[in-house]
Parts: sequence; structure tokens; C-alpha cells
Amino acid sequence: MTPRHFLSLRDLSGDEIRRLVKRACELKEYLKRGERYEPLRGKTLALIFEKSSTRTRVSFETGMNQLGGGSLFLSPRDSHLDRGEPIEDTARVLSRMVDAIVIRTHAHTELETFAAHSNVPVINALTDKCHPCQLLADVQTYIERRGDIKGSTVAWIGDGNNVCHSWMNAAALLDFQLHIAAPAGYEPDSAVLDACRGHVTLSQDPNRAAHHADIVVTDAWTGMGYEEEKAKRERDFAGFTIDENIMSLAKPDAMFMHCLPAYRGQEVAAEVIDGPQSVVWDEAENRLHSQKALLELLFAVRS
Ligand code: CP
Ligand code: NVA
Repeated sequence: MTPRHFLSLRDLSGDEIRRLVKRACELKEYLKRGERYEPLRGKTLALIFEKSSTRTRVSFETGMNQLGGGSLFLSPRDSHLDRGEPIEDTARVLSRMVDAIVIRTHAHTELETFAAHSNVPVINALTDKCHPCQLLADVQTYIERRGDIKGSTVAWIGDGNNVCHSWMNAAALLDFQLHIAAPAGYEPDSAVLDACRGHVTLSQDPNRAAHHADIVVTDAWTGMGYEEEKAKRERDFAGFTIDENIMSLAKPDAMFMHCLPAYRGQEVAAEVIDGPQSVVWDEAENRLHSQKALLELLFAVRS
């Protein structure tokens, strides 16, 4: 039987995302009450990370442990991937030993190749194209404060990158409006834009994007893999710092979101990320709860 993978947010329907978020909130409650819930006893999750991570790695390892299972972490240096063993062979071998595999890699096509040769669920922990696990946590963070995200307005101000693409997919799946402001040359992928038509607008104007938004969201100007462009990016993104002026254009109760890691004074001013409208620590925490709900769904352990 073909396993159920989570390579993009599009692998879930809007209703499934809503149910998953509801479940994530329940699992969060169980944990806060100190209740044990271990449906994944005896299961093993492998994590292959070709890029750095704090939140994604720790939330998957901790989540798997809380669900009663175990996890193992493989950097390319520890496996034969760095020595030229084909990704297809690695997928075939690992999926005969472990029960699910989480991958953070460079090219999205590598993730797709891996998944095509895996007999167990594969989860995207970030590629150059998207970061769907982040969006599960971000949507949970909004819903637990305000209820359904349908009909709301979100401003993405910054790089049209992997996280932006997942916000675009979320807008289409969950029926909200996403106004993107990105500097010239940093626009999101045109195929993703086409697929999200009617839910996404694109400009180069942060003020316009922020107008009347329920959420203002950004990401680092220099993502992993683009370090050599750092100086150029800092010049190109001038005027895109989310400061109190930009936040004042959004709704008075707008939330500020950021997937983290954040760079104060660049994409966001310290007074915003450390201020009362910021929900970034809840977003980070919700990575744990929403990914536990995702594991439950992919392992099909919940009736
Ligand atoms: N937001 C996020 O994915 O963080 P890490 O890179 O620390 O995993
Ligand atoms: N866009 C960033 C996200 C990090 C979690 C990157 O790809 O580095």
C-alpha cells in the first residue's frame, strides 16, 4: 500500500488541516494536564537533516518521545548520503527499518524522489520550495486565539521563499487573503502564484500589504543556502523591516508572526518581535503539538 506522505500543505485538504489543528489543541491540553498518551509505542521516526534546525528537530524528537515512540537523527555526515549512496537506495533501506521519515533538504525534487521510494510516510521538514509543518503551527496559533482563519487577511512582507509558498498554499486551502510584499527579484514562484489565484496578491509595497491585516508575518532575509548573498540581500530588502509604523497600518489587534530564527533590526524591529502583538513563542511551541497531531494522522493511530 502506498504510504501517506506530507510533502506539501496541499497533501491535506482544508478540512483535514482544521481537524488536525483541533487535535493539536487537544494534545496540547493533555500535555499541560500531565496526561500520558503513547499510541506510537514501538514505532521509530528517522530524521534526515541536511540543513541546520533548532525547532523542527527538537519538536519532532520530543513529540515522538511523548507519543511513546523513539527517534533517530541522521546528518548527511553520519550516513552514506554524503558519500554518494543514491537517495533512492537510502529511502528503500530506511523504510524497511523505521516507521516514518522526516527530511529537511535543499531541492524539493530530492524529497519527492525519496518519498517515491519509501514504503513509510515521509514528512517535509523544509525544502527550498516549502515548509508545510511551519504552517500547521502558525494556523494553530491563529485559530486558538481567534477561531477559524477563513476570511482573515494576512500580510507577508519579505522574501517570497519556502515559508511564503506554504502561506500561499494555506490561503488557498483555508480561504483567507494573503497580501505579499516582496522586493523586485524576490517574488514567490509563479507556479505557486498561479495555483493560489484569487487568494494572493503581490506587490513591492510593505505598507499596502500591511493595510488592515489580521496577521503580519515575515522571515529572515537570508535563508539557509543563501549566505553568500547576505550583503546584497540586506541592501535589496531595505525598507522591508517590520517596525511599529508598519504594524500601525494593520488591525489594532493584529498578530506578528515569524517562523524563527529572527534577526532583530533586519526583517523585524526588536520592539515588534519582543512586543505585545508578537506570538512567535507560541508559534514555536505549537510546532510540537501540531506535528504530534500530524504523526497521529500519518500513522493512522487515531480512530
Ligand atoms: N522555524 C523552523 O523551522 O526553525 P528551525 O530551522 O530551527 O527548525
Ligand atoms: N526560510 C528560512 C526558514 C528557516 C526555518 C530558510 O529556508 O532558511
